[in-house]
Amino acid sequence: MKKLIALLLALVMVLAMTACGGRTEPTTDAPAEKPADSNNAADEPAVVAGFEEGATIGVSLPWLGTQNWKEAEEMFKAELEAAGFKPIIQAADNKVPQQQQQIESMIQNGAKVIVVGPIDGTQLGAVLEEAKAAGIYVIGYDRLLENTTGVDGVVQFGSVKTGELQAQALLDGLKEKKGEGPWNIELFGGGPADPNAPNFFKGAMSVLQPLIDDGTLTIVSGQTDFTQCATMDWDNSKAQARMDSLLSGFYADKEIHGVLSPNDGIARAIITSCEQAGQEIPVVSGLDAENESVEWVWSGRQYSTVAKPTDALVAQTVEIIKSLQAGNGMPATDVLVNNGKIDVLVYELPPVVVTKDNAEEVFANDPGRLELLK
Ligand code: BGC
Repeated sequence: MKKLIALLLALVMVLAMTACGGRTEPTTDAPAEKPADSNNAADEPAVVAGFEEGATIGVSLPWLGTQNWKEAEEMFKAELEAAGFKPIIQAADNKVPQQQQQIESMIQNGAKVIVVGPIDGTQLGAVLEEAKAAGIYVIGYDRLLENTTGVDGVVQFGSVKTGELQAQALLDGLKEKKGEGPWNIELFGGGPADPNAPNFFKGAMSVLQPLIDDGTLTIVSGQTDFTQCATMDWDNSKAQARMDSLLSGFYADKEIHGVLSPNDGIARAIITSCEQAGQEIPVVSGLDAENESVEWVWSGRQYSTVAKPTDALVAQTVEIIKSLQAGNGMPATDVLVNNGKIDVLVYELPPVVVTKDNAEEVFANDPGRLELLK
């Protein structure tokens, strides 16, 4: 009898253990909530929850000071609405506390995804981690989100590659327009808080440094560090003031042959400064294919720009949002970038250099810009 009782007890225990341990995997009909550590790209793909169609999606842009951000504002509105979502789109006028508040209010308003183009890549850690803790997905747009675990992925154009293209175009332009070297050039960088700006500069210097070292290029001012060349807040008027003082300080009796410029607004400021100082227009690079610069490239006033089409970047972001909504999680990508805290999934699109020679080809499917080539 004792033996029988012992046997029955053992059977009951085995059954109880099986019952407890048998359902550790979430079932597909009741998906698990997004686990708190699912942002670490090194993790196994997590089982993720989708969210309702028609959900609120926040888009937080840094400012509307260059054409690409204005395009992003319009295109996100149109495309998110077309996909049935409710967009809240805000721009923060280059003020970090304003951007933090705007993201905070997107969290309070029940956004399921927040898309962020940061003013300062490092200053949103706390609010993005708060978003993540609330189960919201965070996608970096055009710029990396640094030093935070509160990011699920980033959509952007290759930023080091962009700098390489800018520098290569500068060299091609010097050869084409300014005779035999050595050539006198100056270097400009973008806003130092923007994580793209040092990367643009780094990519450019990887192309230019060997030619500075062998004497083909002379930086007459001697200013070659990013910190010396950066343009606070991407402010065109600050770039123009720096160019004015470089010209009066170092080029009173010299020609300036070329200038590395990180974007189109700064390129036009540099060119204007040179014109006003009575210099021949130097070869100047750019970025964004802004309408005004596309016209200047076509008329020969600005040598080159780099196209990074906003429609492609917005479309890629909206695709990811749709995947998240459907419960399919973040799409696969081969690119992982460490942001100081975690490895982030990066969806990288290719930037394309534009000169007068290939402009018609590059803008073949962009009727607005094609129209400017007249
Ligand atoms: C963007 C550029 C833009 C610049 C200033 C960068 O992060 O990639 O397209 O010109 O910010 O707004």
